[in-house]
Amino acid sequence: MGVSSNDWATLTEAAKAASERAYSPYSKFRVGAALLTGDRRIYSGCNVENASYGLTVCAERSTVFHAVAEGMTSIRALVVYTPTGKPTAPCGACRQVLNEFGATAQVRCVCDGPDMIERAVSEMLPLAFGPSDLKV
Ligand code: THU
Repeated sequence: MGVSSNDWATLTEAAKAASERAYSPYSKFRVGAALLTGDRRIYSGCNVENASYGLTVCAERSTVFHAVAEGMTSIRALVVYTPTGKPTAPCGACRQVLNEFGATAQVRCVCDGPDMIERAVSEMLPLAFGPSDLKV
């Protein structure tokens, strides 16, 4: 599934804008994400923390849930942005949620420095348990 340099630029801009809307008063770590659906729509999200810390939702999952609520069924690409010097990759829980809708999706992790991480979800979560495992 193709992702053009224009798509990456649009996703990066959306992820950066979303990070500014992060609700992260406890960690102060502002994460933004944006995804491109199989049918080329874009949705974004940010991390949302809670006074009961364990209820925090990461930016990647808030993005996926936002997109699902709008009718998304497949993810083509996702950008995660952190305002850091080095890129940060999605946590394990988010990798599992991404796998549900986009095992072949490309994930790009960007930051304020020159480095980036780019991997397919299937590379980030080898031997994943997924929807096809529930077919009996
Ligand atoms: N966080 C994300 O939004 N995405 C990740 O992949 C890792 C962590 C958030 C959760 C929490 O609000 C803050 O970063 C610190 O862990």
